[in-house]
Amino acid sequence: MTGASAGIGAAAARAFAAEGARLVLAARGLERLTRFAEELRASGNEVAVVRADVSTDEGGRLVLETALDVFGGFDVWVNNAALHHRGPVLDLSPESLGDMVSANLRAPIVLTRLAVEHLRTRPEGGTVVQVASLAGFVPVPGSAVYSATKFGLRVFSLALDEELRVLPGPCVRVRLVSPGPVATAFLLDDLDRVADLTFSQPMSTAEAVASDIVEAAFEASDSGKIERTRPWRSGYLATLAYVWPRLGRWARPMLERGGRRMRERLRRAMDGQVT
Ligand SMILES: NC(=O)c1ccc[n+]([C@@H]2O[C@H](COP(=O)([O-])OP(=O)(O)OC[C@H]3O[C@@H](n4cnc5c(N)ncnc54)[C@H](OP(=O)(O)O)[C@@H]3O)[C@@H](O)[C@H]2O)c1
Repeated sequence: MTGASAGIGAAAARAFAAEGARLVLAARGLERLTRFAEELRASGNEVAVVRADVSTDEGGRLVLETALDVFGGFDVWVNNAALHHRGPVLDLSPESLGDMVSANLRAPIVLTRLAVEHLRTRPEGGTVVQVASLAGFVPVPGSAVYSATKFGLRVFSLALDEELRVLPGPCVRVRLVSPGPVATAFLLDDLDRVADLTFSQPMSTAEAVASDIVEAAFEASDSGKIERTRPWRSGYLATLAYVWPRLGRWARPMLERGGRRMRERLRRAMDGQVT
């Protein structure tokens, strides 16, 4: 799993560990990753760690090679790591826009290609789980490129799953987990820059999203449920706003007002924790 030392990735690692999985955990920072791996090992799990920046091709390959070398292969691959530079496009440097495309779109595409190749060598096949976002359903001003990368990841995954579905041989699936706002550092450390629209939707916990990831990975038979949104009501709302952009534009000011109120509540709650 990429991006496995904190937030949703760490919660998913704990949930997989509880199922008795052997784990390969990747992140850029080794200290936090190693500490977390020790915690899982203390509960009896086999865990390998890789310090890797998956937005580079070498980093991605290193994660894959570690899984092959240490455990001889894998049956589930989770693309979870991502990057979000927030703000209007014209306020961000071309480099930071490109970095988001590398980490959030190019990396999972390349890694999925490699993971699927391995999974097809296994008689039992396997599953690739992509952590996308509801920002990949509806364009979010202030998060244009992040939103674009998550749209891209969703469309790539839906198309690839169709390609794989008709191939003879082992059953390899691609599944999407697409949450709205989740209470992790990704969002809470950047409170002032998060788009108002984001906070208009109910916040999920990393543990709830992790349960979607595990459910998608261990789907017993082909349920046809390629994507899991959370909360599901926000998934419907985002779909409506995409299908009827005028409706989305009409509703946005009201949603943004609600989002601003939620941000203030969060800020007060966080200040309360500090004092
Ligand atoms: N939080 C939300 O509101 C939210 C909502 C929708 C979707 N998502 C998606 O959920 C996923 C996880 O988000 P999160 O909220 O759990 O984030 P997070 O709390 O910031 O955790 C990110 C994890 O990914 C690692 N990471 C970041 N960039 C990496 C890279 N280039 N290579 C390898 N590891 C990397 C981080 O460790 P290092 O820094 O040490 O590398 C950390 O372990 C992302 O795909 C995000 O887009 C999040």
